[in-house]
This record gives sequence, structure tokens and C-alpha cells, in this order.
Amino acid sequence: MAKKIIVLPGDGIGHEIMGSAIEVLKRIAEKYGHQFEFEQHDIGGSSYEKHGEPLTDNTVDACLDADAILLGAIGGPKWDNIPTHLRPEQGLLKIRKALNLFANIRPIKGFAPLLHASPLKESVINGSDIYVVRELTGGLYFGEPSERREDGNVVVDTLLYHRHEIERIVEKGFESAQLRNKHLTSVDKANVLESSRLWREVVEEKKANYPDVTVEHMLVDSAAMKLITNPTQFDVIVTENLFGDILSDEGSVLTGSIGMLPSASLSETIGLYEPVHGSAPDIAGQGIANPLGMILSAAMMLRYSLDLNEEAVAIEKAVEKSLEAGYYTSDLNIENGKQVGTKEMTEIVIGNI
Ligand code: IPM
Ligand code: MN
Repeated sequence: MAKKIIVLPGDGIGHEIMGSAIEVLKRIAEKYGHQFEFEQHDIGGSSYEKHGEPLTDNTVDACLDADAILLGAIGGPKWDNIPTHLRPEQGLLKIRKALNLFANIRPIKGFAPLLHASPLKESVINGSDIYVVRELTGGLYFGEPSERREDGNVVVDTLLYHRHEIERIVEKGFESAQLRNKHLTSVDKANVLESSRLWREVVEEKKANYPDVTVEHMLVDSAAMKLITNPTQFDVIVTENLFGDILSDEGSVLTGSIGMLPSASLSETIGLYEPVHGSAPDIAGQGIANPLGMILSAAMMLRYSLDLNEEAVAIEKAVEKSLEAGYYTSDLNIENGKQVGTKEMTEIVIGNI
């Protein structure tokens, strides 16, 4: 199978971990007889440095023409003081919008060898397996106006959703639940927000179409608490953009490190795959970043965009085997393991494929 993959390393550790994903995919191509063509483009701060903007039309056009997209990470303190519309994060938000990547899938499943690396009790997190379906192209991130008024002393951000935007992500939540343990938790703040009340209405309307799925509404504050006190009660969580952003970082605690978490951002036609973590400027260039979130994102790409499930499983199993053998990167709090850097971890995973 010949496929064109756009790679967007971005900033900070993005470059190091993207190298890992590409090496792993090359091994998969060799083993299973596929041809993957990688084409690199700029995004984020590194795009701003080269082109004066965090996302160019050139990058967008390349992505529109690809079979799938891999993204490393964006951002860094270097760009803290540039105008808001040029910040690296804007590159990420713009590409999500330009490609209509409305569904952000963030599976939160701990690997057994890492259960003790979580600050939470093993007895609490054991067996947890959560699938967050986060709305990604609406809500507070994109609502207009978003501005300062009265000499900067009054601010407004707008939480805007159209019914159809809620419908399509809620449907994604139900469909995901059907493929898993058939339980959907819809997270909102319907006791306060009008947007959440429409969200609840839509969930109530849609549930008749998915009679095999049990649905529960949960307020976001309560969900934040239950996520770490009783995570096994969750199967699929569907929620709006900002709530999903916050809950998925919180959920990463269940897996030992945010460096482990992969994600998929999907439109009806294309997928962009990136680790949930950021660009970690404090450790960039040191060769110690955890490449596993990126490598597992590449596995998600194989599964969702290229329909190569067996190959995706091969990567996930190889990661698990590497962890079982005691290898870990410095972000993980492991006792009695063998600490390795980005390159070594990548080689160990490749050796296990
Ligand atoms: C994420 C990130 C982004 C977000 C930032 C960098 C804009 O935190 O992908 O979760 O908030 O969506
Ligand atoms: Mn985030």
C-alpha cells in the first residue's frame, strides 16, 4: 500500500519525537510491505520563524492532499510576547479549522507496567480504560468576538456552538460507545451554561438512535473529581472543546505520564495525529523526551486513516513489550527500571515489532 503522510514536527521536542514515529513507521512499512512517503512541512513557532506566520497556505494545501498527517508539538516561551494571532498555538487552531477536524479522540488507557508510575493508587486506576471524544473546532476556542475592551480592562471570549456542531460530535460519541463498552458519559455544565443545555437536549434527542448505549449526563466539576477517584466508571466521555482539553490532561495522570497519550483529530475525510503533550521546551534538544505518545499516535493513524489495524496493534504490542522489559524515559516515575533516552526507546520499540 502506498500512502503519503505529511509530517509537521513543530517546535521543541516535536522534532525528536517525530523522528521516532518515522523510524517506527519505516519498520512497519518494511515488515508489512507498504510504501509510506513522508513529506515535512512547517507549523507553529518554527513556521513563524521561517515564514512570519504559524501556518502557511502551503502547509494547509499539503495536508489537504495527504492520506494522513502526523504532528509533533507546538509552542514555546520564545514566542510568548509576539502578537496573539501569530502565536504558535494559532497554527494548531487554524489547521484544525482549515481541515475541519471536529472530533478529537483521546484514549486514556494505562499500560500494566506503568500502573505504579501514577501518583494515584493502583487499586483505583486498575482496569480503567477511557475514550475521550472532545469537540475540537467550536466553543470558546473559536467564538467571536474574543477581545479586550476599555483599555484592556474588560475582556470577552465567546462560547458559540451551532446545533449541527453538537450533533456530529455527540453522534461520534455514541458510535464510539457502540464499538466499546456501550456506556456514554456526556460532560457539560448545564446548571450554568446555555450552550450546555443545548448540548444535553441534543444528547437526549440522539439517544433513541443508539438503544444499545446507556447514557449518563455529568457536570464537568463532578466529572473532574470522578475521573481520578473512580475512573473505572467511565467508558466513552463526550464533551465540548475546553472541557475536553482539561479533562484529557487530568486523565493522563492515570497512565503515569502525559508523555504516553496519543490522539487523533478527525474530519469526515482526513485525520491528524498528535501526542496530547506539549512541546516541553525545558527538555527540548536533550534527547530525553518520551517518544511513546507520538509513536502511539502513529499507530492510531494506521488504524483510523490507513485502515491498517494489524500494523497498529503491532506497534501497540511493541510499546507494551518495551515497558514490560522495564524501559522508561525520565518523565515516568518508575522504580527498578532501565532509564533510556528518546533514541534508545525508539530502537527498543522497533526491535519489538
Ligand atoms: C491540546 C493543546 C492545545 C489545545 C493548545 C496548544 C492550543 O493544549 O491539543 O490539548 O488547547 O487544544
Ligand atoms: Mn491540551
